[in-house]
Formats: sequence, C-alpha cells, structure tokens
Amino acid sequence: MQKIDLSNGAAWMDGQIIPIKDAKIGVTDWGLTRSDITYDVVHVWDSNFFRLEDYLDRFMVSIAKLRLEIPQSRDEIEQILHDMVAASGLTSAYVSMVASRGTPTIPGTRDPRACNNHFYAWVVPFIWVIPADIAKRGAHIQLAGSTIRISPQSVDPTVKNYHWGDMTHALLDALDDGFDTCVLCDDRGCITEGPGFNIFAVINGTVVTAKSGMLQGITRKTVLEICADLGLPHEARDIRADEFLQADEIFTATTAGGPVSVTRINGRILGNDAPGPIAERITETYWNWHTRAELITPIQYKKTT
Ligand SMILES: Cc1ncc(COP(=O)(O)O)c(C=O)c1O
Repeated sequence: MQKIDLSNGAAWMDGQIIPIKDAKIGVTDWGLTRSDITYDVVHVWDSNFFRLEDYLDRFMVSIAKLRLEIPQSRDEIEQILHDMVAASGLTSAYVSMVASRGTPTIPGTRDPRACNNHFYAWVVPFIWVIPADIAKRGAHIQLAGSTIRISPQSVDPTVKNYHWGDMTHALLDALDDGFDTCVLCDDRGCITEGPGFNIFAVINGTVVTAKSGMLQGITRKTVLEICADLGLPHEARDIRADEFLQADEIFTATTAGGPVSVTRINGRILGNDAPGPIAERITETYWNWHTRAELITPIQYKKTT
C-alpha cells in the first residue's frame, strides 16, 4: 500500500489520521457559527513535545469551563497527539487540539446542551507568529488605540478561544500603519496581550507582565520561571499603557516562536533598535530549556524501514 504523505500536516478526526488538507468540520458546527470552541497549542521541537502536561492541563480546564463533554479522556487525547505527530513525521511542529460544541442534534436549536460536542487535533510544520527574520531584527508593534481587548467579563481570555474580532481589527490597523503586530489594552488602559502572544516589558530593572485579562500562557509561565532561575526581578501586575510605552525593553512570548524582542513601539525606538540584553538572555535560556528531561516528552516516530 502506498504511504500517504503527511509532511505538510495531518489531522486526527473521528478516529482517523488524515492529510491536513482533508480535515474539515460541518457548516452548522457551533465551533464555526458561534465560535463556541476551545483549543490549545503545544509545540514539538527537536522531536519532543515541550511541557505537554501543562498544555493538557490548561486544555482540560478550558473544556470544563465551557461545559463541553467530549468522548475522549485526557490520556486518550495525549495518545492521539503522539500518534498524529509520529504519523506526520514532523520533528518541529505546531500541534493544535480542539474541542467544539459541535452540530445541533435538533436542527436549528438554540440550546447549547443539544449539540454533539467533539474533539479533533491537527499538526503542521512549526509556526512562528512573528516570522524568524522579523524576530532577528526585533518586532515593530503598535499599541492599539481605538480597539480594546474584549472584556474578560464577556469572554474569559484564560479559555483559549477563537473570539479574535478585536485582535484582527487591531492587527489590520497595525499592518496598515507599517507595523508587524499589535498589543491591546483593556478598558482601564492596562496592557493585556496581542494576537497570539503574551507581552513582557522591562521597567526599572524588573521584568513585568500583565497579571489578568489575558491567556495564562505557558510560554509566559516559562519566562517567569526563567527569570526566577536567572535571578532577574520579575512581577505579574497591571501595566499602564504610558509606562509600557516608556519601557527599557519589550518582548512577546508564545508557543509559536518563544520569546521575541520588540525594537519599536509606536513611534519609539527601544535601545539601539536592536534586541535588548535581558530579552536575549531569556530567549536563549528558553530554547536551552528544550533539552531539560523534566520538560520534554519524546515522540516515538515509526520506523520507515
Ligand atoms: C491570545 C493569546 N495570548 C497568549 C498566547 C500565548 O500563550 P502560550 O504561551 O501558551 O502559547 C496565545 C497563544 O497562542 C494567544 O493566542
């Protein structure tokens, strides 16, 4: 039998591992029509999952918070992710696990309880939210002016979600104005996060990050642990926009690319228009931590001979 090429990516749907291009969900799925869906993304680096247990923990909590009931257990999800990545053969990858409200069992119902909740997963070659060439020179970001982050009272940002209307709007404005990406404030004028990343700043020698109103990122958690390990003062607290704009260093943090320095914020150039020393140290340590046995889970690739 001819082997199917999954090197562009694979998905697990209804018990089958299929090419990513064939993975589809129905047009009446509430994941699509209501953004009634949660997901999580873990990465694979050098043939190992990084912090897989942390991502699974967060995903299971998100599922419970949305009151979704999927047929698969946590252990089964873990096995599916292993099997799917192994089948793809990808050794550096972006791995998404998704739980959707699914399709209504009664056509047209407005009752969220009357839907077939379901799980699927997909893997593609590693994704850099901020492309590698931009990461090298440092990202140029815009602090969104007119668009504020959706209130946590409306959509819980700790449940990883597809409610990206605010972020897409702010991102389009930033791209139109010649920036690489953007960061949004909440309705109090405090920093939250950007499209696909948490944000850090170095202010008066302390590495700071927002404490609420955003996803509790696993990369953010790792960066805070790195700060503790390196003896760098660090704090999760409210960050006002005006102090953020005057920060000595700024960097982003995401599973899809790790920490990335910011060299320009609005009209201001940080440092010498080059990545800051603290961000560089943290970034280097972050990638070095990808060999720590307690943080990685090897993937058992199937032998092709
Ligand atoms: C809105 C948002 N904030 C923050 C993050 C970073 O979280 P993590 O480090 O867990 O990838 C992401 C990741 O995709 C995200 O989508």
